[in-house]
Amino acid sequence: MDGLGASEVRTDGAPAEVMSPARAPRRRSTSQRSRCVWMVASEALPFAKSGGLGDVMAALPDALARCGLEVTVVLPRYRGVSCDGAPLAGFPVSLGHARSIIRFFHLRRASGVRLVLVDEPALYDREGLYGDRRGDYPDNARRFALLVRAALALAAHERAEVDVFHGHDWQAGLLPVYAREASRAAGSRRPALVHTVHNLAYQGLFGPEWIGALEIPPELYTVDGLEYWHRISFLKAALTLSDVVNTVSPGYAKDVVRPGRGFGLDGVLAARGDRFVGILNGIDVEIWNPAADPLIPAPYDARTLGGKTVAKRALLSTFGVPVNETTLARPLVAMISRMVEQKGHGLIRASAPDLFALDASVIVVGDGDPLYEQMWRAVAAALPGRVAVRVGFDETLSHLVYAGADIFMMPSRFEPCGLSQMYSMRYGTVPVVHATGGLDDTVVAVDARGGQGTGFKFTRYEPAAFVSALREALALYRHPDRWRAVQRRGMARDFSWAAAAGEYRQLYERAMRLSRLPGRSGNPGVFG
Ligand code: ADP
Ligand code: GLC
Repeated sequence: MDGLGASEVRTDGAPAEVMSPARAPRRRSTSQRSRCVWMVASEALPFAKSGGLGDVMAALPDALARCGLEVTVVLPRYRGVSCDGAPLAGFPVSLGHARSIIRFFHLRRASGVRLVLVDEPALYDREGLYGDRRGDYPDNARRFALLVRAALALAAHERAEVDVFHGHDWQAGLLPVYAREASRAAGSRRPALVHTVHNLAYQGLFGPEWIGALEIPPELYTVDGLEYWHRISFLKAALTLSDVVNTVSPGYAKDVVRPGRGFGLDGVLAARGDRFVGILNGIDVEIWNPAADPLIPAPYDARTLGGKTVAKRALLSTFGVPVNETTLARPLVAMISRMVEQKGHGLIRASAPDLFALDASVIVVGDGDPLYEQMWRAVAAALPGRVAVRVGFDETLSHLVYAGADIFMMPSRFEPCGLSQMYSMRYGTVPVVHATGGLDDTVVAVDARGGQGTGFKFTRYEPAAFVSALREALALYRHPDRWRAVQRRGMARDFSWAAAAGEYRQLYERAMRLSRLPGRSGNPGVFG
């Protein structure tokens, strides 16, 4: 599994009100200037999203900028991303024997964050972000290595005084390799290196034949470096060579250092000791706000839940389910997810006979593995009026689903953080989740009488446990007062980015201190 497996491009034009052509970076004396952070990632809204990474790469930089940091986010200019105006810069960037002429466009978000788009049509102007119907693009190693190279080249071109380079997921995995090399070649002090793992299941594994083409120093191709079972691992490079590494929930961070739990990288992560931490994601509470969401039919908040019924009507009718007293009274269970094993579609298949016998309507939005797309189509065809499915990616529709559903099911086998359960709670939709990773960290279990808690959890990953959690939820739904109390507690939770932004700031300060220590600061035995 080397890519996120997006089967189609998920890009959007930039809404005019949040973006304006960026001005040249301000220069201030080192003592006065705020921390300068450059992030490199393969997704960021409003330009590219296949899952939660796209949301995080918009909201986290915004939150950091609001704390006074100067943040630049570098991502590819994928197909369909329009950029008005002249490019910021254009120059050749070489990697191995290949040379690309790259143009850079930049825009400033309302928060002050600068988004830089790396324009190299031969690599990024394609049908999908990571692949097409035939699978991952065979040159993904080059596509994302060059993204990192381009970011570093632009920083050098601008003579940016970067304090921290912050990479995300395997696509930015070579950031510490190239950043260390660049500082060494220039004889300059290197910036601090921070890496965030959003999902350990995707590692960026490529054959050793890429070593030359990617200009990977051969001495790094060892078990202490970036070699992983005779292949290059982009993610392992980041895990071993960054000053500090984090993942997106404390629960997942604790889990993946246990033997056999880290997708083959538990030992590598455990070796980083306290330099590997978990920071819980937040959500953008302005975009995801039922009281002011233009994508739902009627606003509502915890006091006035009436708008939720309006949304339920609209949702049922959008999915062709007859809207009447029976269907409005029947609990509506929803799911929005990439259709991959991680998200629990296998468990759903195993639970099907009992699950679809429950007195509930089910609405699903998602795409991914053709096996699960087909499974959901078949269930919907067999149970018309009870189960409805939209195969595809539809950001606008997702808002209506979070608002109109009563229950959100998220039986993920594992979940580094998960944003969908937080969106659900914010919209008064009660989550039913597997007690794993970020799901366990964010959902408080409802007690027997519904007197506390924000959702339902199951621990054993098996059909009986999952269906029983759903049954409990459906039973409580029959007690409107208690149900509303659960909804309201979920809606009252603070899932904003404020806390996480503070933790990232501390992580940056720590990485800066560590990067200045004499000697080795990545994994022992790798780099000076
Ligand atoms: P992951 O990043 O593993 O996919 P998250 O819960 O962190 O899981 O984030 C998923 C995000 O992607 C949510 O914003 C969810 O609403 C969105 N999403 C997933 N699939 C779809 C889809 N088919 N259409 C619209 N939004 C989707
Ligand atoms: C990944 C994870 C998900 C997380 C998201 C954002 O896609 O699967 O759990 O919420 O990244 O960090």
